[in-house]
Amino acid sequence: MKTKSYIFKGARVIDPKKKIDSVIDIGVSNGIFTDPKTLNNAEVINLKNKVLTPGFIDLHVHLRDPGGKDRETIETGTMAAAAGGFTTVVAMPNTSPVVDSTAAVEYLRRKAQKTAVVNVLPAAAITKNSEGKDMTGIGSFSKAGVVAVTDDGRCVQNSDLLLHVLEYAKTFNMPVLEHCEEDSLAENGHAHDGYWAAVNGLKGIPKSAEAIMVARDIALAKEAETTVHIQHVSADESVYLIRDAKKRGINVTAEVTPHHLSLTDDCIKNFDTRYKVNPPLRTETDRQALIEGLKDNTIDVIATDHAPHAETDKLKEFAYAPFGMIGLETAVPIVLTELYHRDVLSLSELVAKFTTGPAEVLRRDDLGTIEIGLQADLTVLDVEKEHAVNKHNFYSKSRNTPFNRKKVKGKAVCTVVGGEIVYSELEGLKGKI
Ligand code: DOR
Repeated sequence: MKTKSYIFKGARVIDPKKKIDSVIDIGVSNGIFTDPKTLNNAEVINLKNKVLTPGFIDLHVHLRDPGGKDRETIETGTMAAAAGGFTTVVAMPNTSPVVDSTAAVEYLRRKAQKTAVVNVLPAAAITKNSEGKDMTGIGSFSKAGVVAVTDDGRCVQNSDLLLHVLEYAKTFNMPVLEHCEEDSLAENGHAHDGYWAAVNGLKGIPKSAEAIMVARDIALAKEAETTVHIQHVSADESVYLIRDAKKRGINVTAEVTPHHLSLTDDCIKNFDTRYKVNPPLRTETDRQALIEGLKDNTIDVIATDHAPHAETDKLKEFAYAPFGMIGLETAVPIVLTELYHRDVLSLSELVAKFTTGPAEVLRRDDLGTIEIGLQADLTVLDVEKEHAVNKHNFYSKSRNTPFNRKKVKGKAVCTVVGGEIVYSELEGLKGKI
């Protein structure tokens, strides 16, 4: 049991769930939020000119354990999360082997208990080996601590199977997260099916590959009278479909990545594989639609899709290089720069995309808010801090970021998990990592 007590003083506290945006004291004792007035011997941490929020949640992270420890481990991935301001990460199951059994979940749980510096919430596969054929044991997953199911990296093509998954998952209150991609359209594609794919002679992945499955999933969620969550939305068409579905009262939620919010497909003009991601970077029209979607809450969540890859793999020719870029240590600076400092979203709206948004997708009342008695997870932001991204300072084991040397404004400067300072660049305050 942790015993150290803290009082965080002087910060602008933003908790969108509680509709708080004011300077108040926050107390922490024995790892939980505590009324600061009841704390006598607490260490006072001065957070003047800083913003204090509920701990950020990243709904979409590839920790690569088991099977990819050359690219990331639970230890390095969660250190990267802590340094990026995230207190909770949802670990994607497309590892090797795929997390499709309670044994694999148990492995993750034990490994996280020993090595993780932030909360690791395991997601398990929808189908065995994520092959899209046989459903996994969703019923037993709930008891094992699985927070959601997804075949992320692949999309369940069989609609009848997915309808049954949605109906079954509903009985266990298990969120279903969908990577939307119609295989016959996306197969062998490497980039957005547009100008730059054509000029570079790359097979394209059309927007319809995503939109068709978004439309299908909305129809299936309605049919099953349940909820579906759409991962990494990239296309304007998908935003329109989700917006319309929400208007019609269908329970669909959606996430977008910092890279789809800030980059477009012209980045691939020199075959730079750091920009090869799935779904692909699309056009300025799509990027603007994603931003509009965030603004009107069509899109509920910003999630990184942190996808570590070895340098040797990313050095391959564009068509042979793997999809994905890391994002845990750049997400907060990128979105503060691109969305907050450009007056796209208010700070409170932005914080909601990392706190209440993901907590609602996970159906977790105990996450994404500051409430006496709950586990004390906090993120401290210096929204004015100007700096340049430096990939050599990353805690992640991988370096596949396109944002190296980018000048940004705003950063997470302290991360608190269960009342413990796990990361800090505040003067006089040491973090665990
Ligand atoms: O770019 C991506 N990388 N998209 C995915 O869906 C999977 C991920 C990975 O696992 O590398």
